[in-house]
Amino acid sequence: MDITTLAGQDLLIVGGGSGIARALAADAVAEGATVTLAGRDPQRLAPVAAQVGAATARIDLTDEGSIAAFAATSGPLDHVVSLAAAPANGPVAELDRDAVHTAFDAKVVGPLLLAKHLAPLVRGSFLLFSGVAAWRPAPGRSVMATTNGAVAFLAEALAVELAPVRVNALSPGIVDSGQWDRLGDGKDAFLAATAAANPARRTGTPAQVSAAARSLLTNPFVTGTTLHVDGGGRLA
Ligand SMILES: NC(=O)c1ccc[n+]([C@@H]2O[C@H](COP(=O)([O-])OP(=O)(O)OC[C@H]3O[C@@H](n4cnc5c(N)ncnc54)[C@H](OP(=O)(O)O)[C@@H]3O)[C@@H](O)[C@H]2O)c1
Repeated sequence: MDITTLAGQDLLIVGGGSGIARALAADAVAEGATVTLAGRDPQRLAPVAAQVGAATARIDLTDEGSIAAFAATSGPLDHVVSLAAAPANGPVAELDRDAVHTAFDAKVVGPLLLAKHLAPLVRGSFLLFSGVAAWRPAPGRSVMATTNGAVAFLAEALAVELAPVRVNALSPGIVDSGQWDRLGDGKDAFLAATAAANPARRTGTPAQVSAAARSLLTNPFVTGTTLHVDGGGRLA
């Protein structure tokens, strides 16, 4: 098979409440895919799902039972995308062990369990979300750097073990996905400073990340790869 499109394909998007997830879901549905947005609370996902024409499901990556329960009732899937993140930022001296474990559950252990329970149903690929913090560590970001770095190695390991199912990772740089709204009045200055430092002289949009994600999902010759969609931010 040559490069495919998402038309007629079944996608499960875990961490479906993220801004990037919403863009990917909308683009995939527009391309003709059937999409399920999964998250800890399907009711919170319902308005977005209705808007883009997706179904909802409950998957909490800290809860293996929720993944097994989804697998038990799911039909075949073409692609599984995991965007979940539960950052545990702060100085090492102040880290909370439970928060660190939750961060690893969202990015590393949870995706491993998705592979455990869903790989038998998957015909195409898994796509895991990493992040630029792994390649640009900063004080207070040790857990974020380590979880995102682990995602890249997990994609390589799973690509070998689950073959011919493909497994890739996508590492976004700073993207105005909604998660930076928490900076309030400081958001615009943060995005402007990041853009000025990036070789591409811009921050990213969910649409740009969605386009890269769809490329990884539909190119049958790409597996075990981390695609950096970061404006060169890891080099800045
Ligand atoms: N935006 C950026 O600048 C940026 C930069 C680098 C990397 N990334 C990565 O790109 C991905 C998407 O980014 P984003 O900004 O769109 O996402 P985001 O706003 O950080 O959303 C993360 C999502 O993960 C979900 N989640 C957390 N714990 C979960 C669990 N245990 N089970 C299931 N879902 C869980 C949250 O759902 P709830 O609604 O349940 O809380 C939320 O919808 C993330 O992996 C992020 O780390 C983003």
